Amino acid sequence: MGIFQHLCVEDHEEGSGPLLAEAGSIESSPAASGRPEPREFFLSPKKNLALSLVLLFASYSALLVPAYLPVQHPIWSDGSTDEDVLKHSAAMLARTCNSGWAVARLKKMPGFRSLLEIPVFLQNATGGWDLAPPLGLQGSEEMLAHTLSALPLSGLPFSPDRCRRCIVVGSGGILRGKHLGDHIDKYDIIIRMNNAPVFGFEKDAGSRTTIRLVYPEGAPILNQEYHNTEIIALVVFKRLDLEWLLSVVTNEPLSWWSKLWFWKNVVNEIPLPPGNFRITNPEILNRTWHLLLTYNKQQRKTVPTLGLIGVVLALQLCDEVSLAGFGYDLQQPGARLHYYEALRMDTMMSQVVHDVTTESSLLQELVKARVLHDLTGVL
Ligand SMILES: *[C@@H]1O[C@H](CO)[C@@H](O)[C@H](O)[C@H]1NC(C)=O
Ligand SMILES: *[C@@H]1O[C@H](CO)[C@@H](O)[C@H](O)[C@H]1NC(C)=O
Repeated sequence: MGIFQHLCVEDHEEGSGPLLAEAGSIESSPAASGRPEPREFFLSPKKNLALSLVLLFASYSALLVPAYLPVQHPIWSDGSTDEDVLKHSAAMLARTCNSGWAVARLKKMPGFRSLLEIPVFLQNATGGWDLAPPLGLQGSEEMLAHTLSALPLSGLPFSPDRCRRCIVVGSGGILRGKHLGDHIDKYDIIIRMNNAPVFGFEKDAGSRTTIRLVYPEGAPILNQEYHNTEIIALVVFKRLDLEWLLSVVTNEPLSWWSKLWFWKNVVNEIPLPPGNFRITNPEILNRTWHLLLTYNKQQRKTVPTLGLIGVVLALQLCDEVSLAGFGYDLQQPGARLHYYEALRMDTMMSQVVHDVTTESSLLQELVKARVLHDLTGVL
């Protein structure tokens, strides 16, 4: 009986890791189905011995077999080799910056004109809003005024008169092992989203951040992620997000009541002075959302990803826009979803908040029209 209990515990532990969950349940089923009534244990010593051996064997299988299942590990599947990507990226950087390149091409695409000339950061609380967050700030005007008054700066972190080359760094697993970090750090503006880390991933993801787009639940927890960062730009999904920013900037903790409404634990302190924070103009979300609707009417209820918002923001600020680590190859369920963790691609298929297929079509069209340049090439 002691052995039996031990077995159950082992099985349970084996199944508790997210990646081994499937293997754990499959491999432990023989043991579970062969589970006898407790009384049978004492019927005959022979039966008891046989049963013990079977259980012992099953327990070894449960522990050892998953270790030999190759499909449980993320696999690689992209067409171009890492060397091709590096060479190509170096060639891009060696060229001189083309002033006005992205916008000139965007202007030739009739369906995309709404993405032109959107102010990126909010400067003042004037102007009425017709839409509630995240598409506008209706109903949050007072909170907005309050938060803006705590932000001493609202401008861009660079002079507007030189040609700017930008890169938007996505969290795609495709970035891993490409050693693009040094190249990424050479861009004038480096845009990152939410908790996509640099600390410990410099080789592949670079170490500088010009603008990090965040919402409270997605903002990095580790202090180190905020080193080498010029701007933290809040994307407002709800009124409470403004309250969070105010609390971070003024170092006044949120009330426990307010904290209840976040869907995840949020970071309370960010080691940057108030001058490094901005509020992203919700009009960027509104225009992006409307554009996505022209692709797919079904997706009224989904919001654009921060990745796509980052791209639209880059189009407002930059002469040239490159992407790295964008694209999910859903044909490869075993591939790595993110460059910084071992989640598999198939976990993306079970979420409903974002419509990644529609977003990919949109981005692909921009890449085809050479508005954007996709460095890692899986879009
Ligand atoms: C308020 O911001 C808008 C752009 O967001 C700008 O056009 C306007 O001049 C600003 N007004 C003041 C008083 O700063
Ligand atoms: C939202 O975007 C649409 C499409 O670009 C635009 O027509 C509309 O005026 C915007 N709404 C607001 C409230 O700004």
